[in-house]
Amino acid sequence: MTLNIGMVGTGWFAKMHADLLAGMADVRLAAVCGSSREKGEEMAAAYGARGYGDPLEMLGAEKLDAVYICVPPDAHGAVERALIRRGIPFFVEKPLGVTTEIPASLLYDIRETGLLTSVGYHFRYQDNVQRLKARLAEDRIGMIVGEWMGAMPGAPWWRDQSRSGGQFTEQTTHIVDLVRYLAGEVTEVYAVYGSRFMQEKRENVSVHDVGTVSLKLESGAVANISNTCVLPSEVSRVGLSFYNEGGLLDWNPNRLLEKREGGTSETPSAGNPYVEESEAFLYAVRTGDRSRIRSDYADGYRTLKVTCAAYESARSGKPVKL
Ligand SMILES: NC(=O)c1ccc[n+]([C@@H]2O[C@H](COP(=O)([O-])OP(=O)(O)OC[C@H]3O[C@@H](n4cnc5c(N)ncnc54)[C@H](O)[C@@H]3O)[C@@H](O)[C@H]2O)c1
Repeated sequence: MTLNIGMVGTGWFAKMHADLLAGMADVRLAAVCGSSREKGEEMAAAYGARGYGDPLEMLGAEKLDAVYICVPPDAHGAVERALIRRGIPFFVEKPLGVTTEIPASLLYDIRETGLLTSVGYHFRYQDNVQRLKARLAEDRIGMIVGEWMGAMPGAPWWRDQSRSGGQFTEQTTHIVDLVRYLAGEVTEVYAVYGSRFMQEKRENVSVHDVGTVSLKLESGAVANISNTCVLPSEVSRVGLSFYNEGGLLDWNPNRLLEKREGGTSETPSAGNPYVEESEAFLYAVRTGDRSRIRSDYADGYRTLKVTCAAYESARSGKPVKL
């Protein structure tokens, strides 16, 4: 049976997912909805799909098996609500929102209806993250240090706090999500954010450009995750290190480094986690078996809660308990 898929969003990541869908067997991108009909039709034409400028019109006209939502963080709510009402499973890119209010109400309805959902925390599908998870099961975590150090992305919405939620919520969310996935739930956060010079260098910047967040975990382990967007575009460092009883486990998107008393080994990353996450979602749509989905809406919501608590802590100057 061919699955008919709808796409909401016409930007960089909508196209990334659309390209992957176009290469999959028995999957058809049937419709694309943009923020205007023109944008929807323009992207749809490249995939032989129909274009729309209104998600309700798209859902009324098409018989879709699932929808991908790839819009900026502030554009969530109406689309998800329409899909929940119609019982159409959706894959949604992280983060689920700028703040927790709208996602909390969507989560309530998703739980009530039991709708199938998946959230784009793709690192969970990476082979080296699975290897890391297996190593951690045999080790005792002491502490965790993570970072997302890079340049400011070009999209105008990203630099607007009210539209993106800031770097920790929009981007570093991947590292927060990995901490939760690999080391368990977070119980308290304390954050210090600053604005060094991006507000002077670029127009309309309201997000902070440096920040560090300390986290207490349910297990008793502690973590620190720092981020910045002040670097030049060709310079970046993203990763997560575990300082454990058995040694150091140091992950970045390209490799996993293991340093123990017996020696050091390095495993390069292989495969494409974006393909894995889409295949897991579409398998669930096809069969009803959700066991391959590694982050559903409820799980993604817990990550959002941590990142939003960090922002609250940075503003108040006080630790926030979760
Ligand atoms: N998982 C990852 O690695 C990863 C990487 C990049 C982006 N993302 C996420 O994907 C999402 C989109 O990012 P992007 O880089 O594609 O941004 P983008 O700016 O390139 O595209 C966003 C698109 O959404 C459209 N849009 C806005 N509001 C809309 C609405 N109400 N209905 C339909 N379309 C609407 C805009 O017109 C634009 O085409 C963000 O949440 C981002 O965090 C995830």
